[in-house]
This record gives sequence, C-alpha cells and structure tokens, in this order.
Amino acid sequence: MEGDERTKKILIYLSVEKYASPFDLFQAYDAVDDLIVIPYTGVEMDDVPELINDTIFPRRPKDLINTAIFIGGHDVVKGDEIMDSAVKQMFDPFKVSIVADPDGSNTTATGCVVKIKEAIEAKGEKLKGKRAIIFAGTGPVGLRVATLLVREGVKVAITSRKIERAIAAVANVEKIYHAEITPYEVKTDKYKIDYESTINALREFNPNIIVTAGPPEITYVKKETWNHFNDLEVMADANAYPPYGIEGVDANDDCKEIENTGKLGIGALRIGSVKNDLQKKIIRKLFEKKGMVIRLEDIYATAFE
Ligand SMILES: NC(=O)c1ccc[n+]([C@@H]2O[C@H](COP(=O)([O-])OP(=O)(O)OC[C@H]3O[C@@H](n4cnc5c(N)ncnc54)[C@H](OP(=O)(O)O)[C@@H]3O)[C@@H](O)[C@H]2O)c1
Repeated sequence: MEGDERTKKILIYLSVEKYASPFDLFQAYDAVDDLIVIPYTGVEMDDVPELINDTIFPRRPKDLINTAIFIGGHDVVKGDEIMDSAVKQMFDPFKVSIVADPDGSNTTATGCVVKIKEAIEAKGEKLKGKRAIIFAGTGPVGLRVATLLVREGVKVAITSRKIERAIAAVANVEKIYHAEITPYEVKTDKYKIDYESTINALREFNPNIIVTAGPPEITYVKKETWNHFNDLEVMADANAYPPYGIEGVDANDDCKEIENTGKLGIGALRIGSVKNDLQKKIIRKLFEKKGMVIRLEDIYATAFE
C-alpha cells in the first residue's frame, strides 16, 4: 500500500446538522480497523474551503491515501453542495477521496435497486425494458432510485401529492440522463389512501415494479389494488416503520413471494442490510486510492464488485 506507514487512516466527517449521526459513525468504525473519525458538525457552505485546505495540506501528497472525507447529515441538497464545493477546492496532488451519502440516500437507493435487480433476475428475466413506478418518488431516496433504474434501462414513473412537484422532479432526472419519465399525481398521505389516483396511475402505466419511497407509516398501495395488476412482478418498500408502504410486503421480506400471488416483495430491512454493508464497503474504498470522487453511480457499481 502507498503512503507513509506512520500516517493513521483519518476520516473527516462533515455534516450540516448539530451532531454527527451515530449511525454513520458506527458504520465508519466498523468498516475500517483503527480508523480515526473526526466529525465537524454545523458546517456551512462558507466553511468548506478552509476545512478542505486544513484537510489536504497537513500531510505529504503521497500520504493523502490515508485521509478521506464523508459527507453525512440529513439535508441532501446541502450535502451535495458541500461535496461539489469540496471537490472544487482540491487540486493535484492535494486530493483526498470523498463521498457524500446525506440521509443515507445514495446507499439506500442503491440497496433498493440491487434488490429489485436480484428479484427480477431470480425470475430468469432482465431489468432492462421493465416498467417501474415510484410512489412518493420526489424525495432523495425515490429520485435516486429513479436515476439508477433509468440507467438500467427501465421505463420509470414518479408520483407526488402535487403534479407540479412530480414534473419538477422528473425534469431533474431527465436533464441529466435524457430519459423520459412519467409524472403522476397521487395524493395519498398518512390519513387517506387516494385509491382513485393510485389505480389510475397503475392502469395507465401498467408497471412490472412498484417502489414506495414515502415517509414512514404511510401505506401507498393496498393489496386489493396491487393484486389486480397481472404484469406486476416485484414490489419494494423503503419504509421500515409499520404500517408499511405496500400492504402485504413485510420489512423483512427478501424477494419473497407474497401470498401465492407470484409477485415478489422486498422489505425495508432487506434494503437496509444491503445499504449497511455497502456503506462500510464505500468507506473502505475511500482508503484504497487517493483523490476518488465517489458518486451515486460509483456507489451502485461498488455494490456489484
Ligand atoms: N431501508 C432503509 O435502509 C432506509 C434508509 C434511509 C431511509 N429510508 C426510508 O426511505 C423512505 C424515503 O426516504 P426519503 O428521505 O426520500 O423520504 P422523504 O423525502 O421524507 O419523503 C419522500 C416523499 O414523500 C412525500 N411526502 C412527504 N411527507 C409526506 C406526507 N406527510 N404524506 C404523504 N407524502 C409525503 C414527499 O413527496 P411530495 O411532496 O412530492 O408528495 C416527499 O418528497 C423513508 O420511509 C425513509 O424512512 C429507508
């Protein structure tokens, strides 16, 4: 391995929140032996250049293989902005490896798509060419699931409680990946399932895959609804708090056939275990080579290494 043997592996953890996420800290310590994690919280955009300078200059360039940056926190937009600003601030040979996974959005979305791919392939089929609808798909997890599915050649639809939000979200992904995504309005919330618009969206789009990516405790699709769709093969739910996002799909279901329907269910805890292993794998990867910028697509590729 490159680098001075005396330099310890140090992970700089940046977050806009008032405390560092214990979840992320556990993952980091469990990923790499003898790792030192230095958390900086309450980070604002103006702080980034100085924090990065103080990260890249204390060590000789060849020793920077033992320095890395992980951006956590809950605010996904700010997390991504910090990532971009940090990457801009580094220059050869003063570059360290960096990853952003605010709110676990990249690793969770990857876990979800890895599981969907596994379920489709278990049926002897290919993901490419399938049709997937993502309920409450405008959030960080849903949008990233959409992105990864589009990259896999899946035809994607996204729902929102407001059509304008669905259209804006779709435009965001389409701008980068030049894919056509269909927006739908489905007003389901904690208090009321909007059966009519759910059924309309399902009828019109006729998906092979349903993903629910809304907040905890909201059921988006009842069994009496999904049961009527013959082309539906796989249902994946990101929410780990009951009641779950898809009636009949339990948080522990691991590409399991749901009640002799021929449809496979993927629960949040099974997505979560892929996510957790992947987060550790990514943290180990940060110390394999210096100067890597690990983005969603790289995280997804890492899941298959
Ligand atoms: N399995 C795991 O390991 C794991 C890890 C991380 C997160 N998660 C879970 O993944 C899910 C998605 O996370 P996220 O951060 O992307 O979600 P989010 O941003 O909180 O919500 C996703 C979308 O749901 C809609 N929404 C928000 N509040 C709502 C409400 N009260 N009623 C109905 N719809 C509402 C919003 O869309 P519109 O306003 O456009 O309707 C929002 O864009 C969550 O359940 C989270 O707990 C799972």
